[in-house]
Amino acid sequence: MACLPVFISLLFLISSCKGDDQLTQANRLISPGDVLISKGRVFALGFFSPTASNQSFFLGIWYHNISESERTYVWVANRDNPITTPSFATLAISNSSNLVLSDSGNHTLWTTNVTATGGDGAYAALLDSGNLVLRLPNGTTIWQSFDHPTDTLLMGMRFLVSYKAQVAMRCIAWKGPDDPSTGDFSISGDPSSNLQIFLWNGTRPYIRFIGFGPSSMWSSVFSFSTSLIYETSVSTDDEFYIIYTTSDGSPYKRLQLDYTGTLKFLAWNDSASSWTVVVQRPSPTIVCDPYASCGPFGYCDATAAIPRCQCLDGFEPDGSNSSSRGCRRKQQLRCRGRDDRFVTMAGMKVPDKFLHVRNRSFDECAAECSRNCSCTAYAYANLTGADQARCLLWSGELADTGRANIGENLYLRLADSTVNKKKSDILKIELPVITSLLILMCICLAWICKSRGIHRSKEIQKKHRLQHLKDSSELENDNLELPFICLEDIVTATNNFSDHNMLGKGGFGKVYKGVLEGGKEVAVKRLSKGSQQGVEEFRNEVVLIAKLQHRNLVRLISYCIHEDEKLLIYEYLPNKSLDTFLFDAKRKSVLDWTTRFMIIKGIARGLLYLHQDSRLTIIHRDLKASNILLDTNMSPKISDFGMARIFEGNKQQENTTRVVGTYGYMSPEYALEGSFSVKSDTYSFGVLLLELVSGLKISSPHLIMDFQNLITFAWSLWKDGNAMDLVDSSIRESCLLHEVLRCIQIALSCVQDDPTARPLMSSIVFMLENETAALPTPKEPAYLTAMVYGTKDTRENKERSVNNVSITALEGR
Ligand SMILES: *[C@@H]1O[C@H](CO)[C@@H](O)[C@H](O)[C@H]1NC(C)=O
Ligand SMILES: *[C@@H]1O[C@H](CO)[C@@H](O)[C@H](O)[C@H]1NC(C)=O
Ligand SMILES: *[C@@H]1O[C@H](CO)[C@@H](O)[C@H](O)[C@H]1NC(C)=O
Ligand SMILES: *[C@@H]1O[C@H](CO)[C@@H](O)[C@H](O)[C@H]1NC(C)=O
Ligand SMILES: *[C@@H]1O[C@H](CO)[C@@H](O)[C@H](O)[C@H]1NC(C)=O
Ligand SMILES: *[C@@H]1O[C@H](CO)[C@@H](O)[C@H](O)[C@H]1NC(C)=O
Ligand SMILES: *[C@@H]1O[C@H](CO)[C@@H](O)[C@H](O)[C@H]1NC(C)=O
Ligand SMILES: *[C@@H]1O[C@H](CO)[C@@H](O)[C@H](O)[C@H]1NC(C)=O
Ligand SMILES: *[C@@H]1O[C@H](CO)[C@@H](O)[C@H](O)[C@H]1NC(C)=O
Ligand SMILES: *[C@@H]1O[C@H](CO)[C@@H](O)[C@H](O)[C@H]1NC(C)=O
Ligand SMILES: *[C@@H]1O[C@H](CO)[C@@H](O)[C@H](O)[C@H]1NC(C)=O
Ligand SMILES: *[C@@H]1O[C@H](CO)[C@@H](O)[C@H](O)[C@H]1NC(C)=O
Repeated sequence: MACLPVFISLLFLISSCKGDDQLTQANRLISPGDVLISKGRVFALGFFSPTASNQSFFLGIWYHNISESERTYVWVANRDNPITTPSFATLAISNSSNLVLSDSGNHTLWTTNVTATGGDGAYAALLDSGNLVLRLPNGTTIWQSFDHPTDTLLMGMRFLVSYKAQVAMRCIAWKGPDDPSTGDFSISGDPSSNLQIFLWNGTRPYIRFIGFGPSSMWSSVFSFSTSLIYETSVSTDDEFYIIYTTSDGSPYKRLQLDYTGTLKFLAWNDSASSWTVVVQRPSPTIVCDPYASCGPFGYCDATAAIPRCQCLDGFEPDGSNSSSRGCRRKQQLRCRGRDDRFVTMAGMKVPDKFLHVRNRSFDECAAECSRNCSCTAYAYANLTGADQARCLLWSGELADTGRANIGENLYLRLADSTVNKKKSDILKIELPVITSLLILMCICLAWICKSRGIHRSKEIQKKHRLQHLKDSSELENDNLELPFICLEDIVTATNNFSDHNMLGKGGFGKVYKGVLEGGKEVAVKRLSKGSQQGVEEFRNEVVLIAKLQHRNLVRLISYCIHEDEKLLIYEYLPNKSLDTFLFDAKRKSVLDWTTRFMIIKGIARGLLYLHQDSRLTIIHRDLKASNILLDTNMSPKISDFGMARIFEGNKQQENTTRVVGTYGYMSPEYALEGSFSVKSDTYSFGVLLLELVSGLKISSPHLIMDFQNLITFAWSLWKDGNAMDLVDSSIRESCLLHEVLRCIQIALSCVQDDPTARPLMSSIVFMLENETAALPTPKEPAYLTAMVYGTKDTRENKERSVNNVSITALEGR
């Protein structure tokens, strides 16, 4: 018994003097032998010489645990200012709270450059993430090595590409294998646009990465052994950064730009005791990977079995110039009225040197390009990270285009006859036949119209509609008792779909407010025309919602199909959606805790009805704040079943390659494997619950300092018993502590990694309603922060909006 305290204090002694991870004003690091070792003994900071023969010493950070022969440096302080005498160089903290590296002759070789007001007591610590931080006594970080990378990006480090539209950080390769001084190759943002990142060879582009949108390289997930690696790009009004994280939290993974200009993602392979390349650029298998390898109007087809240069549609190899591999138009543009047309190339990495136009709809973007004859192409994408749409226009040459597994539509301007050559040949032969057929049809039609009148044509519409619904397998023998409204009535009700009446926009179309004859207010959802997806979702929604009656589900009143016009008519909810309150600084005050708790319980009941209490099992798949509408009493109603799936019988789980949903709300198994069940809705519900409690958006991680996202933030507070700090400051005073804490714990049990560990909606409703019901103890949630992006089959998914996300394994390319 007596030796226990001795043992403990011994342990304490050992751990406090050995492996010291801190440097204070009282102690200093003296070369050659002193090192600072991070708490978990992962990284070391000290002096090193890259070659035994060379008498140049540097201050740097390396992996402590990796043997001398494989020693891996991740950061160098004085890369261009080596220490030339090996002993008595020191790293100390100056009176001005700066780290100062000076040599034996007392010359400053390197220093941090902060002007802190903190005064005495600043200290430096080496963290297990590999970050060397300089902190004030109260814990405020005033400088960190993660803000000053050399050639390596570590897990959890934010690589700030641009800040306030200026290029921010630069990651620069070593000059040679044993020479850490500033080399030729570097990575940084594109000075002319904050949408791209370049790997530079000197000042010339070597590899171009798209920062955002479907062809982004930086929003992917790939795997090494059993762990997943997430590459996430985050954009806010002011900044755009990239961050790497890994599912197992291991720090033995890094992205390095080596002295040959190769950007490699490396992971430590324990069994082989060496680094394994997970992905690299330029890809060793794709010869045309480097910038503009295929010349003007050519593109690098990385999806081909043997990747090679191709000409864009409507172009042919430019034989006249043997020194470059460019392409030329088969037919020159005429630029007269309708002589030009646009062809769509799907799955493309969009070209360089674009003009980025803001605040354009797709149609406006297309019009902008077709109006201007010098515009050769355009592309359009909705961005998740940036909450805005992106319209890109090109004039003149198209350079550095590619086709990849992840890509987007590129719309190319071509002379019309190139597009329609074959069609017009056919027309020449068949024109007389077609003309006579047309005349015949006109006569028939005129006769029908005359004899039946307008009333009959409505009947035809109705028949058409029934036919439509009969096609749908879900309908089976059910009679759909749903009134049908004709298009004219809706046009009148919505003022011909005037912008003035628009309530909102969604992935599949716009929503308008309408007033029917008799003064009844309705919300009209108008599906975007010509999208095949739309038809499928439309039928799904009509059939589904018509059957569902619950006070927490939005009610479908009627619908309309007219040619390619598809409309759904819902009850009108004057208060709009939850997100317009929750994330609005002024309006959020309306949502006091009582209201929020009522909303939480309402959503839970609505979801329970979908999952269990209706005759079918319905998985919503896109539950989020903007899909929760509020009625006049602020009672919640779940809307937007366009993505819902019905499960028949006892089926519990299904897999899909078409992952739809919204970043942040998607459960890991759904986002990564396409596997969904009622538990994926539970996950989304958990996220929604955290948003309701905290007033923070899941998709704005920048709001939460030092945390990956709202979930990890909530977890860390809850685990440390500080869950109250999560609560929205506007309700902190008024809320009922025990209710809020129960909600946070329930939310954390909903966002657990393992779907089977998440509670069913039935137990959630019970736990919310019964204050004495026992709550499960949640496990730590996954480290999932990735904005999983891209598509498994780009061509199939080309028309999908950004809300639709599918998975991809990032292939080395
Ligand atoms: C680091 O050291 C620990 C034990 O001290 C060992 O289990 C682990 O495998 C080592 N990791 C590496 C990457 O060498
Ligand atoms: C640094 O501070 C110490 C104690 O406050 C003082 O004795 C010393 O002169 C200061 N040195 C410089 C260079 O200002
Ligand atoms: C180095 O310079 C500092 C002030 O710049 C001085 O306080 C210190 O004594 C000097 N050390 C040596 C070894 O010359
Ligand atoms: C240190 O900061 C000052 C003021 O911000 C600046 O003028 C100076 O160039 C910086 N020095 C270094 C080495 O970055
Ligand atoms: C820590 O101290 C500095 C300077 O005294 C001050 O600016 C900063 O706000 C403090 N931070 C915290 C978290 O108290
Ligand atoms: C040692 O390496 C440095 C660069 O790190 C180089 O400038 C210097 O010439 C080398 N010296 C010798 C003797 O090789
Ligand atoms: C980098 O540019 C230099 C010329 O500035 C060239 O000689 C070298 O081959 C380029 N390196 C690569 C990898 O393209
Ligand atoms: C680790 O290295 C071993 C031996 O070289 C190899 O067989 C294994 O595939 C590697 N593991 C991974 C995940 O690459
Ligand atoms: C051939 O291409 C190169 C590089 O694009 C260009 O500099 C040169 O002027 C071209 N020559 C001809 C005859 O078009
Ligand atoms: C879905 O995929 C998982 C593995 O990815 C598999 O275990 C499961 O059986 C699949 N489920 C169905 C219904 O195909
Ligand atoms: C509430 O939960 C407790 C414990 O599970 C149970 O004993 C009690 O009957 C429940 N009350 C109601 C009204 O369901
Ligand atoms: C972008 O979203 C709008 C609605 O907000 C939709 O109409 C459009 O089709 C989407 N575009 C793409 C390229 O996904």
